[in-house]
Amino acid sequence: MLLTSHLTPNRTCLRAAQLTTGLSTPSSLTSGYSEESMASHVAYAIVSIRHHTKTYRTVPVVGLPTRLKPQLKILYESYPALSPHTIASPWFGNKAYLYTYLGHVLVDGLQDARGEDERCDDVLVQSNRGEAAMSTATKGRLAGKNAIITGGAGGIGLETSILFANEGANVLMADISGPALEKAKAKVLQLVPNASKVETTICDVSKEDQVKSMIESLDAWGGLDVIFNNAGIMHAQDDDAVGTPEAIWDLTMSINVKGVWFGCKHAVESFRRNKKNKTSVINTASVVALVGSATPQLAYTASKGAVLALTRELAIVHARDGYRFNNLCPAPLNTPLLQDWLGDDKPKRARREIHFPTGRFGEAVEQAQAVLFLASDEASFVNGHDMVVDGGMTKAYVTPEGQPCAAPTNNALKNEL
Ligand SMILES: NC(=O)c1ccc[n+]([C@@H]2O[C@H](COP(=O)([O-])OP(=O)(O)OC[C@H]3O[C@@H](n4cnc5c(N)ncnc54)[C@H](O)[C@@H]3O)[C@@H](O)[C@H]2O)c1
Repeated sequence: MLLTSHLTPNRTCLRAAQLTTGLSTPSSLTSGYSEESMASHVAYAIVSIRHHTKTYRTVPVVGLPTRLKPQLKILYESYPALSPHTIASPWFGNKAYLYTYLGHVLVDGLQDARGEDERCDDVLVQSNRGEAAMSTATKGRLAGKNAIITGGAGGIGLETSILFANEGANVLMADISGPALEKAKAKVLQLVPNASKVETTICDVSKEDQVKSMIESLDAWGGLDVIFNNAGIMHAQDDDAVGTPEAIWDLTMSINVKGVWFGCKHAVESFRRNKKNKTSVINTASVVALVGSATPQLAYTASKGAVLALTRELAIVHARDGYRFNNLCPAPLNTPLLQDWLGDDKPKRARREIHFPTGRFGEAVEQAQAVLFLASDEASFVNGHDMVVDGGMTKAYVTPEGQPCAAPTNNALKNEL
């Protein structure tokens, strides 16, 4: 929900609405106009803002239906920051709130047009954007992008969901575990109460029909822009060439490799269907795809090598479509995937810790920060890259001695950002 109870009419919003609708005085916006006619004005204004920002696309502003809801539906279609929640909101029963809200939409639009329209300054000087929850939802490094994060209920996926929501993305968190997803979603909303959109879906990434319908469900949001194919397992029975049971090999491959392939396949279909040409796919591999380990998990290692190779190939195949594909290669982390497996076994833990120049395991949030960059348009020239986030581990020969460096706290452990 974008509207909050502290959203009150203010001069800036009314002025913004006045400037773009051409109505004579701010006060004329709060009296003498029906909701229908105000919505028509604003629909027109939004179209003209889109024109200023060079993101104009045709919106049926002529012959608007007379009832308010369909008009707002048009606003929603023409301005992705609006959501069906806001359209259904009882706030729209109150004219003053409607105008205020739409005024904030206009302020955002005008700010986007900064430098192209001198009227912006007039509005921005007076702007008091802090009072609109709306503002945070439309700004950020991923503003307006529709993103799916698999394995979103924990570890790297949850930390990434938090950062994506905080940077303005509409986020669909996907995981095989329903209860874990609900807990994770509550955490994201606790930390990012003004999130644009955060939803969850239960999806086993090894099942193509589930991946397909998950990705297709984002057509209702305007189509997928970013997918983080992150879900993966490392099975306790995974072992060396002799000791790995075939069933564990197959299970690992079907989640870690086929799951990533299905995510990429249906992402490409979705990008084509929705005519996207600035998209990002990030697949989670691992440093074990780059360096050998004397503590084998052969199926896992082979699966991550496959992810590395398929991602690289897709990056090249789709480079001229504008679809970027990059790998994330995390070092061993402080997440349940590894830590549950290590348990209280100190020698087993020390055997790994010794290889870190920093003297510590990585944290999930440190991976999520890299994913955020790869997902954003800041990484527009980063394609086919293996983003190694390992504290220097794969570059080390003899590691330093002394106290380990301090680690950041994962956001999921905080009560506020
Ligand atoms: N933790 C590490 O040390 C480490 C190191 C390198 C790479 N990775 C990779 O990072 C990714 C995320 O791992 P993490 O450390 O955050 O682990 P995690 O166990 O904390 O999270 C993985 C999530 O994936 C979900 N999941 C498992 N199987 C699934 C399936 N079939 N469909 C959908 N969701 C499923 C789990 O429920 C869980 O929420 C994995 O691909 C993992 O291989 C982890």
